[in-house]
Amino acid sequence: MKSTRIITIAMLLLGGGLRAQTDDASFTPANPPGLLPLPSHKSPAYRAAKLFRHGVNLGDYLEAGSWAVKIDAGEFAAMKHEGFDHVRVPVGWHRYAGPAPDFTLSPEIFSRVDFAVTNTLNNHMAVMINIHHFDALDKDPTNTAAEFLKIWQQIAAHYRNFPARLAFELDNEPHDYATTALMNPIYAQAITEIRQTNPKRTIFVEPGGWGSIAELKNLVLPPDDNVIVSVHCYDPFHFTHQGASWTSADVQQTNIVFPGPPAQPLAMDEGLNPKPWVRDWIEKYNTLPSGQNPSSPLAFTGKLKYLHAWSDYYGRPIHLGEFGAYIKADERSRANFYAAFRQAAEKEQLGWCIWDWSANFRYWDKKNNAPMPGMRDALFGK
Ligand code: BGC
Repeated sequence: MKSTRIITIAMLLLGGGLRAQTDDASFTPANPPGLLPLPSHKSPAYRAAKLFRHGVNLGDYLEAGSWAVKIDAGEFAAMKHEGFDHVRVPVGWHRYAGPAPDFTLSPEIFSRVDFAVTNTLNNHMAVMINIHHFDALDKDPTNTAAEFLKIWQQIAAHYRNFPARLAFELDNEPHDYATTALMNPIYAQAITEIRQTNPKRTIFVEPGGWGSIAELKNLVLPPDDNVIVSVHCYDPFHFTHQGASWTSADVQQTNIVFPGPPAQPLAMDEGLNPKPWVRDWIEKYNTLPSGQNPSSPLAFTGKLKYLHAWSDYYGRPIHLGEFGAYIKADERSRANFYAAFRQAAEKEQLGWCIWDWSANFRYWDKKNNAPMPGMRDALFGK
C-alpha cells in the first residue's frame, strides 16, 4: 500500500534531492506563482492552528474494514486526560456512498462520525474529520472529482452548525495519479463548495505524494484565510515501518533501534535479500555515530525546519497530521522516537498528531487502560 511512498523516499535518499533542499538554511520559495503568500500571521487559520497542537489519530477506526478497532466513549476522556488537545478522525465516507449522480451518504456513517465528533468536542478537544483511503480518487482523480465534491457537499451540510473546533481535512495522502498538480484545482472546487455552507470552517489540505513534505512546493491554494496545510512524515522509514506488511519489501528488516547506532551491529534477517540502498542504509545505521546516523533525528530535523520556513513565507500554518512508529519496534526506541520527533516539531512551532491511538502504532494500551510504556513522557514530558 505504501510502496510508492518508500520508492519515493529511496529515490530521494539516493539522489540527495530533498536533503539538499531542506538542510539549506536559506529558504528559497519555489511554489507556482498561483500560491500567493498571505501577509497576516493572525488570520483565522493561525488562530485555529493553536487548537491543533498535540493530537492523536483514531487510526484503524472509521476508515478501516474488518480490522477496525473499537473506541468507547470513555476513551475520549482518557485522550484529554493524557494531554491531547485534538483528535484526527480518518473516515472512509466513500464506502457509504450511494450511486452517481448523488452519491448519497448513509445515515450509518453520519451517526458513527457524530459519535466520535461529539465525544471529542464534549471532552474539550478540537476535532478534524477527513476522507481517508479514497482509492478511486488516487487512481483517477479527474473522473472521481464529482463524487469527491458531492461527498464534501453532504458532510459540510451535516456539520454546518457544529462548533468552530470541528475542522475538515479534504483528502488523506493523495498519491499515484492524484498528484499535487491535479489535486490543486479539485481542492479549490471543494473549498468553494464547503464555503457555501461553512463560510468560517477551518479546512486542512495535504499535498500529493502521500502528503509528503517534498510535494509542498507544488501546492497551490486559493487565498482563503482559514486553510491549514497538513503533511505527513514517517522518517526514518526503515525504523518507523520495520516489519510492516502493507509497505514494500524494503522495510522488512526488524530490530532497528532509535537512535542508532545499535550496541551490536545488526545482522540482517536471513532470506530478506535487501536491495542495495537498504544494505547501504543498514551499513550506515551500524557504523555512523549518533549525530550522523540515519536512524536519528537527522532524518527529520532538516525537513521540519524547511516546513517552518515555508509556512512563514507563504503565511499558511502547517500541521504534521501523521507521524509515528509501528509496534514492531522495541518499546524504548518507539518512545525515544516519539519524544525526539515531537520535540523537533515543537521547536519549529508545528502542531503534531501521532499515528495512532490504539491500533498498530499505539499510544493507548486498552488492556491495561494506560499509555504504552514511556509514551506519556515522550509526548508530554519536559
Ligand atoms: C494509513 C494507515 C497506516 C499509516 C502508517 C496511514 O496514513 O492510513 O493505514 O497504518 O499511515 O503507514
